[in-house]
Amino acid sequence: MFAIVFVVDDNVRCNQNVVVNSRPNFLIMVADDMGYGDVSLLGNHSLPTPNIDRIGREGMILNQHLTAASVCTPSRSAFLTGRYPIRNGMTAAGKNRVFLFVASSGGLPPEELTIAKLLKQQIGNEYRTALIGKWHLGKDCSRLDDNCHHPNQHGFDYFFGIPLTNLKDFGDDGQSVVISYYPHFYLLLTMIGLLGSTLGLMIIIRFQKSWLKSSILIILISIILPAFTVIFQKNISILNGVLYRNDQLIEQPIHLKGITKRLTDETEQFIRNTIAQNQSFFVILNFIKVHTALVPSEKFEGKSRYGKYGDCVLELDDGVGRMLDLLEELEIVNKTFTYFTSDNGAHLEEVDLNGNPEGGSNGIYRGGKGHGAMEGGIRVPTFLRWPNVLPKNLTKISQATSQMDIFPTISAILNLTLPTDRILDGRNIFPLLTGENHTSPHNFLFHYCGIYLHGVRYIEDNDHVWKVYFYQPKYKPQEDKCLFVCMCHGKLVVKHDPPLIYNIAQDPTEINPIVDSKIRSKILRKVTKAVQQHRLSLNPNIESQFSFGNSIWKPWLQPCCSWKFCHC
Ligand SMILES: *[C@@H]1O[C@H](CO)[C@@H](O)[C@H](O)[C@H]1NC(C)=O
Ligand SMILES: *[C@@H]1O[C@H](CO)[C@@H](O)[C@H](O)[C@H]1NC(C)=O
Repeated sequence: MFAIVFVVDDNVRCNQNVVVNSRPNFLIMVADDMGYGDVSLLGNHSLPTPNIDRIGREGMILNQHLTAASVCTPSRSAFLTGRYPIRNGMTAAGKNRVFLFVASSGGLPPEELTIAKLLKQQIGNEYRTALIGKWHLGKDCSRLDDNCHHPNQHGFDYFFGIPLTNLKDFGDDGQSVVISYYPHFYLLLTMIGLLGSTLGLMIIIRFQKSWLKSSILIILISIILPAFTVIFQKNISILNGVLYRNDQLIEQPIHLKGITKRLTDETEQFIRNTIAQNQSFFVILNFIKVHTALVPSEKFEGKSRYGKYGDCVLELDDGVGRMLDLLEELEIVNKTFTYFTSDNGAHLEEVDLNGNPEGGSNGIYRGGKGHGAMEGGIRVPTFLRWPNVLPKNLTKISQATSQMDIFPTISAILNLTLPTDRILDGRNIFPLLTGENHTSPHNFLFHYCGIYLHGVRYIEDNDHVWKVYFYQPKYKPQEDKCLFVCMCHGKLVVKHDPPLIYNIAQDPTEINPIVDSKIRSKILRKVTKAVQQHRLSLNPNIESQFSFGNSIWKPWLQPCCSWKFCHC
């Protein structure tokens, strides 16, 4: 409740600053798995990103901009709804923290409210909304093409992109996401086959005819099940690599080469049409880069110092440049809120078949994608430009802000009424952006790993931003990396009891834990109380979108564009 009152109060103040009737455009660009250290403006002098930089140079850098999760599905859910994923079942208790199949029934619940939907409900046709690129928030619930989680049901007039995500299997170099997660996949299946058959044969030999039928059944199952699993794994690019225009399946499996240009072409067309019809646009362009599979187009192949990963960064940056040029050509730069961010930090464990790194850099920050509360996974490169309204020329906002703030901030800019039937975790940061306020609107930010609270950020003031860790991922010796992928609970995390505390404002690389017992107990008292209050505000009865039933592949939800092996 407190949150809502706070935001409404800010709304009023904010409206004195913004010309409410100007109906600005919103161009929101989100990279996939791009790290803080992958941008030249943020210190990477060997990886040129002139276009992404330009947003910051002509506008501002949000230097402590945080995602609500260190992996895509929950992070994107929080971004669109302004709420922690724990509130709506969009985060997992188990190993898999993102949706793995187009044909599973989990997804952003239809009753959730995205910022696009709020805007459409309250302003209607003055705006046209689009989501182009990666969605990763589910598709169907119970029937094929019921589209209950589809972007079109969540406030977007237009969708062009992939309902799921890019996966290693979509490339042409023989990589597989299943093998990356479970390196002993084939061995395990072979063992199941061998053990089952041996068991069946032994029963036949021992009991002869009386158990014949059940023995044959055991043998069949132990061979068919692994065989089916292998066929499935070999066809992931067909099962999951589906490209849609609105509710129409237009390509299966998706061709990744040139996909960035196709996404920017679509966005350009959408923006041109909208402006031609005298409407304003709200566009989210979710680039499919720089997640693996890394498939740069010819123009960028071999052009960077960092292999395919670097080439993909260059191509992404070029896509951003096309969008900025378009705004200039249409003379709408001053009227457009242009924002660039990433869904989580770089994936440090990602390697190709030969063990060469295929993930990016998180600069000075420790940890990366999937590492729970670690800074490198949640502190993302973010730039914002809105000339004539927001400060310009490399203004740096170093206070803690969250991607969840985008929801209430855009609501404030457009004078939308916020919903009162749900808790919002984002805050209106407009007064911080304009320089009217100089402190973060957040006192606490909760850093989850799946459903497990790994850490809390306690923002006492600009110089004292305490980061309290209850858990950290279990790393390989001498490295800030997990073996294959980091997990959130059980034996794969390190529990800190008493908790580890850093002052992230003065010690951003987190090397000097706070030892002073007086300071520690003061911080821990505050944080314990905040966690208690936060926990009380959660609804324990919410349906998990990652339950077993919502996570598994359901054959009846499998899109297939033709009977000829689902190719088109
Ligand atoms: C945009 O605003 C700047 C001042 O910040 C002004 O110089 C420029 O002419 C404006 N551009 C357009 C197209 O109105
Ligand atoms: C620049 O980016 C590349 C690719 O992610 C990375 O390998 C390199 O370490 C980065 N350099 C710095 C200084 O962060």
